[in-house]
Amino acid sequence: MRVSILTLNPGFFAGPLGEGMIRIAREAGIVTVDLVPIRDFATDRYGTTDDYPYGGGAGMVMKVDTIVGAFESVSAAEPGVTPRTLVTTPQGRVLTQEWARELAQERHLVLVCGRYRGIDERAGAFLSAEEVSIGDYVLSGGEAAALVVLDAVSRLQPGVLGDAESARGDSFSEALLDAPVYTRPEEYRGLRVPETLLSGNHEQIRRWRRREALRRTLARRPDLLSGRALSDEDRRFLDEIRKEEASS
Ligand code: ADE
Repeated sequence: MRVSILTLNPGFFAGPLGEGMIRIAREAGIVTVDLVPIRDFATDRYGTTDDYPYGGGAGMVMKVDTIVGAFESVSAAEPGVTPRTLVTTPQGRVLTQEWARELAQERHLVLVCGRYRGIDERAGAFLSAEEVSIGDYVLSGGEAAALVVLDAVSRLQPGVLGDAESARGDSFSEALLDAPVYTRPEEYRGLRVPETLLSGNHEQIRRWRRREALRRTLARRPDLLSGRALSDEDRRFLDEIRKEEASS
């Protein structure tokens, strides 16, 4: 897949593109990333990329002509493919694993990093763009959000994750939080690894993990449990957990 990132701060990406999963995906030729400096498409000799908002108010608005120019420089990079275009903004639809999975199927993603008060609304129309938020908080710019989208879609490309990790399944693929994990030593400053995990009994370990995953999800993200079809075993575990929590 190709991911084109339109940004006023291309330097932001220098480190992250060369590290971890994104580096592996790029080096394997599975993900191609273009960094498009929006400033290169400024239409005046001062390199202006933003201007005051019509109607007044604080903050600056990214100009439509520069954004459209930057977009048109990459929109035909994949012959015969219309890119799927996302603008990062706290006003957007919140990214979920399900949406990431859908975006990961695209041949060409264009990510426009919003800055300041946002981009001129008309740019969204020219780009047929959707708006994406990575959560209900405000960042100083959309670059970190674009990196989040890039990471989430890159690791879902076939061949990027090793077998062990991809077979394991992500906690959100199943919409439950993961159970706690431990590694050596068995005891650290008086804190022991739960005995079940040392038992070698695979069925007991499976049940322990399932129960602890439910316990965490109930405590931290009860919204993930409501409206979800539960197995008889899950319902029994949840009843037990609720009783345990009530008596502790
Ligand atoms: N830009 C500023 N805050 C953001 C957020 N939460 N998600 C996406 N883009 C943003």
